[in-house]
Amino acid sequence: MEKLGLNQIREMYLSFFESKGHLRLPSYSLIPKNDKSLLLINAGMAPLKPYFTGMQTPPNTRITTSQKCIRTGDIENVGKTSRHGTFFEMLGNFSFGDYFKEEAIQWAWEFSTEVLKLPKDKLYVTIYLDDDESFDIWTSKTDIDPSRIFRLGKDDNFWELGIGPCGPCSEIHFDRGEGKINSAEEFVKASDEDRVMEFWNLVFTQFDKDEAGNYNRLANPNIDTGMGLERISVIMQGKNNLFEVDTLTVILDKISKMADVEYGKDEKTDISMRVITDHIRSVTFMTSDGILPSNEGRGYVLRRLLRRAAKHGKSLGINEGFLYKLTDVVIDSSSGNYPELKEKRDYIKKVIKLEEERFDETIDSGMHIVNEYIEDLQNNSAFVLSGERAFKLYDTYGFPIELTQEILEEKGMTVDLDGFDREMQNQRERARAAREETNYMGAKDTILNKIPLEIETEFNGYNTLELNSKVKVLIKGEEFVNQLCEGEKGIIITEETPFYAEMGGQVGDKGIMFAGSFKAEVLDCKKNVAGKVLHFVKVVSGNISVDEETTLSVNAERRNNIRRNHTATHILNEALRKVLGEHVHQSGSYVDDERLRFDFNHFEAASAEELKKIENLVNENIMKVLNVETQVMTLEEARESGAIALFDGKYKDEVRVVVVGNFSKELCGGTHVGNSGEIGLFKIVSEAGVAAGIRRIEAVTGPTALALVEEKNNLLKEIANRLKCGEKEVLHRLDVQFAELKEKEREIEELKAKLASGSEDEILNNFKEISGVKLLTGTLRDIDGNALRELADKIRSKAGECVVVLGSVAEGKAQFVAMASKAAIEKGVHCGKIIKEVASIAGGGGGGRPDMAQAGGKLPEKLDEAIGSCAGIVEKLVK
Ligand code: ALA
Repeated sequence: MEKLGLNQIREMYLSFFESKGHLRLPSYSLIPKNDKSLLLINAGMAPLKPYFTGMQTPPNTRITTSQKCIRTGDIENVGKTSRHGTFFEMLGNFSFGDYFKEEAIQWAWEFSTEVLKLPKDKLYVTIYLDDDESFDIWTSKTDIDPSRIFRLGKDDNFWELGIGPCGPCSEIHFDRGEGKINSAEEFVKASDEDRVMEFWNLVFTQFDKDEAGNYNRLANPNIDTGMGLERISVIMQGKNNLFEVDTLTVILDKISKMADVEYGKDEKTDISMRVITDHIRSVTFMTSDGILPSNEGRGYVLRRLLRRAAKHGKSLGINEGFLYKLTDVVIDSSSGNYPELKEKRDYIKKVIKLEEERFDETIDSGMHIVNEYIEDLQNNSAFVLSGERAFKLYDTYGFPIELTQEILEEKGMTVDLDGFDREMQNQRERARAAREETNYMGAKDTILNKIPLEIETEFNGYNTLELNSKVKVLIKGEEFVNQLCEGEKGIIITEETPFYAEMGGQVGDKGIMFAGSFKAEVLDCKKNVAGKVLHFVKVVSGNISVDEETTLSVNAERRNNIRRNHTATHILNEALRKVLGEHVHQSGSYVDDERLRFDFNHFEAASAEELKKIENLVNENIMKVLNVETQVMTLEEARESGAIALFDGKYKDEVRVVVVGNFSKELCGGTHVGNSGEIGLFKIVSEAGVAAGIRRIEAVTGPTALALVEEKNNLLKEIANRLKCGEKEVLHRLDVQFAELKEKEREIEELKAKLASGSEDEILNNFKEISGVKLLTGTLRDIDGNALRELADKIRSKAGECVVVLGSVAEGKAQFVAMASKAAIEKGVHCGKIIKEVASIAGGGGGGRPDMAQAGGKLPEKLDEAIGSCAGIVEKLVK
């Protein structure tokens, strides 16, 4: 058997099936499309389900792929065994109502024995119990020895994965042991003991299993085969272990180098290295498909894998982020078939690095808490960490529960998982209660929830801003009333309304209602929990009674501004995806008449350059004067059309899709402009982070954007005015002024120095002789301690045998320095003593050595007096 590299085997497989009329497709993303039954793609057939069920027509009836897959069901075993991994590639050939068992079996045998050249006496085949047809094909169309075929039951030879296409299957196994296996029982035993290794599963997809568990026969039976690429590589490379496969070994080696730990020396460190090897592959591929670490769904799987790997890194003694470097090895060894890895290298590394840093912070703050908990348990001879504490670690310190479990497991301890789940549930309820408490609209026993169910208001405000309708309900305070009178505030519910009630981030409309002498201001419009449309009003004049007709009129200018902002939000959403990446999705939005606010997931701040690009792209689409249309369609149709939506089950069957030219398509119930040109202008006001991984953009449009531009313009004008130059010269003028300022500062410094040196001569020329000791004194301005000391030193060296005492006022304080030559000291001069007395006159203190002393004083006005006292002091000292 030739030793083949993993990348080589993949290519051999795909080209073999191309030669059999198959269309080779690139691997689909790990993120399932329109498949709520799956979090991550976990088999080659998973992304092809619509072709199997006939919901969609495949581009070819024969397809072959190498599909990236993730399975985390056995994550605890990863690293501990030789074959468990979370990431793998699955090679597959698929037939959609084209060929069936005969070809599938023959080609599988041909590829195994003639292309891979696996020895026939090492191969066994299993089939489903009563699948005689397969038995006949295997025995009549291939040259397998019939005694190498075993029949197994539903657990082994019937393939299904959740709901969807499934059927009986036939598997091909490689025997790594010696001697022939003679019965199904012996075979099962050999398989359990890992002697026999299954590497190819041929599924004869005949059924579509529905959610109720029924197996519905498919009109056309299909073929779905799956060969684990890593597994066949283990076999082809004559290895015992998944981690010895060429593309995995390079990762393992790199880890060993990074940690400076040899592989194969210690089971515990080996496990860590294997865990990291496996997990970094999942992490790299998941990130490249746009999944970001988070606390839920796919994001949580990613976070968990990444943190688990990081933790094992720490066990190996790697204490700083390393996964983001290790990912290079994955990228380099796999980008031949997955070019996106290379293209997104920087992005992938950035995401991983950030999450490693985040985890480090988590660990730093949380680890000592975990240790405290462990100690506590040990002191009490207990082994189960309470759910409450596990939850605290999760909630406050961001410890994935699995991580806590693993840390405890190492100490032979466990977590009360039921208790943890209970805490989680409690928190959800607390959050819900808090929402209800703070939300008047949601409070249980307010009058708003007693509005009769049959009262319905028809919203007709997409195209109309004014209409007449009958008043159905009036509410004042906590009561239903028959009439609202002048000066009163209340709520009016009508049969029909043009007022948009706050929803989907768009604020409610304002406006007026009137009829005869009745006039009311509509201050806001909202829905209660049951969806009743409430107009919050203040009656300006007249009265209104139940059953009366009134005209409802929306403030058009305000509505127009809201529409501008809302359509701009859709364009922004798409622009973000184009500039920052497809991973961007909305996590909140707010639209009113003055601005729009859009929250989205992204792992770092958008750069100034990116923001500019985003803003430009939005404005380009405004200037393209794109028609904005709304289409009502089924949710399914919306999905297929590729409309952006959260598709999280909150939509009804019929949805409204807002389409902006060919740029944006989004599910939305809000009000929009008829043409993007109406938005006029779009300006981003700010970009900031609001939570981990969530960014917020605030922007303005139309008149507000113009006002913003005008405001900036005025500011510039004013600056130019004050600088007394034209607007275009502002920068130049500022440069000139700064330069002038600098020059002036330099001059000041020079002058100060001159001042000091001027003083120097003066001081040198005006000395007193006291009993043979030369005393030189001087008072100066704005010379600080250091400069004063330098000056004194200069004077002392020029004057020869002497004592120098200088005082200066700098920064509102007096400063003194005294210096004496050797001969003066011998005559009795002591600078410390001099300075002590001098400074005390200026309200300070200090002292020092005989040759040098320094001090300060709080009374600068006493400077002259203090320096004047020197002669007397020196006289006393030298007598
Ligand atoms: N869908 C089959 C499997 O994953 C081939 O094993």
